[in-house]
Amino acid sequence: MHVAYEVPRITVADTTPAAADADLLIIPVAQDQTAAAVAGFDAAVGGELTAALERQEFRARACDIFSAAGRAAGWRASRIVFVGGGKRAEIGAERIRRMAATATQAARHQRRARLAWADVEPGTLSPTARIELLAEGITIANFDSGVHKSKPDHRFFVSDATVLTSAAGAAAAADAGRVMGDAVNAARGLINEPGNHLTPRVLADKAAALAAVPGITADILDERRIEELGMGLLLGVARGSAEPPRVLVLRYEPAGAPAGQTLGLVGKGITFDTGGISLKPSDGMERMKDDMAGGATVVAAIRCIAMQQLPIRVVAVVPMTENMPGGRAIKPGDILRGASGLTVEVNNTDAEGRLLLGDGLWYARQLGATHVIDVATLTGAVVVALGKITTGLFGQPQSWVDQLSSAAGAAGEKLWPLPLFDEYGEQLKSEIADMLNSPGRPAGSITAAMFLKEFAGEGAWAHLDIAGTAWAEESKPWQPKGATGAMIRTLIEVARAGLPG
Ligand code: BES
Ligand code: MN
Ligand code: ZN
Repeated sequence: MHVAYEVPRITVADTTPAAADADLLIIPVAQDQTAAAVAGFDAAVGGELTAALERQEFRARACDIFSAAGRAAGWRASRIVFVGGGKRAEIGAERIRRMAATATQAARHQRRARLAWADVEPGTLSPTARIELLAEGITIANFDSGVHKSKPDHRFFVSDATVLTSAAGAAAAADAGRVMGDAVNAARGLINEPGNHLTPRVLADKAAALAAVPGITADILDERRIEELGMGLLLGVARGSAEPPRVLVLRYEPAGAPAGQTLGLVGKGITFDTGGISLKPSDGMERMKDDMAGGATVVAAIRCIAMQQLPIRVVAVVPMTENMPGGRAIKPGDILRGASGLTVEVNNTDAEGRLLLGDGLWYARQLGATHVIDVATLTGAVVVALGKITTGLFGQPQSWVDQLSSAAGAAGEKLWPLPLFDEYGEQLKSEIADMLNSPGRPAGSITAAMFLKEFAGEGAWAHLDIAGTAWAEESKPWQPKGATGAMIRTLIEVARAGLPG
């Protein structure tokens, strides 16, 4: 197995594009860039930019690429890639990250190890926000999913990137972006791993290793301790598997953090979801190796929060198991009792995520979490509602939900709220237990969230359903097919904003 990614060295330099010493110079160009600015870059490529724009070979739409030889006297780079930005007013966080990733992908195709980015397109962001996103975009493009190929002959990574800028705080911003990109890559690497390689025990070890940075303490609960805690919902799901379950607990408690407030992050850690006795159809089942994406997301987030030394207490809880059919597996109709004391009639063993999250949410509160966010590939229904574009957002109170929306805005990620009206709770009623785990087709994502709400306690709680957004079915210039790392950045923006008083 090969490594999935390399973290490039990223530096900043107050140098003109012409003077940049690199194998490849990248110049962003907005669609409504002034003719004078275009003429300035034209000098670098002997008039080819203007010519390409005129014959519409290059239209400077978002993430369009035009590559030319650097042939002008006085310019050091031998190759120049222009990357389109679309309209300047639209160049926000997501756009600039995608532009950087797309251009870096082009550099990898051209096998150019040392790139320079001319920070000449202001877009709508502050210089430091932009530079952070550039560094993140460059880093996430340095990722290769072919880790299990026996002959990785086409792999090529960028080794160095220089952002050409004179902005104050640029170096720290570039560092933060690189740390973010590194965390996203690590999560994507884990999510892409197949179920036979990434069992619950392996996931617990790998995730703890990923979180092994200064300030974080890790604890891996084995099946004995899980039993002592009474986590009957997690244990119920795990019964069908030959692999024992685990719960990973990570804590970050920096000295300067406001006391009495702790962000709780809970992630779904199903290393493979067959559906259990309520077996899934075989078509597309292979994708269910990504059912631990929520777990990887919260681990990557707490790692990044600690590396950036943000002044906030965080506890992360990731219950991990496979969901398998087997001689000991739970059956439809079985009743389980979770650690909170609530009983559940399991009418569908494929609605397993909410079961282990129920125990996970309860445990996060036990550990003192005052503001909780859970992240899970929870329902196919959220893909019906929001497609593969937007993550589903649920929670209470409204102010906490709003805080997640604005964090997503700052992070350049797409999140949209769905309601939790009391009436939806009727579908969860069971004749013989406190609740059903599978309340039928109508509003499937909402009723899943209503189920979680019963375990989320009284304080602030939000639930992110990433079933649509965790995995890209097709490759895009800025994102290869596979794990996306969705919502890691949003969690970090939540931590940056701090918890409400
Ligand atoms: N892991 C799945 C949800 C999922 C589906 C993620 C498609 C990504 C793509 C989850 O455990 C599940 O099976 N949910 C069921 C719930 C139903 C039985 C109430 C679903 O969505 O069909
Ligand atoms: Mn399932
Ligand atoms: Zn699942």
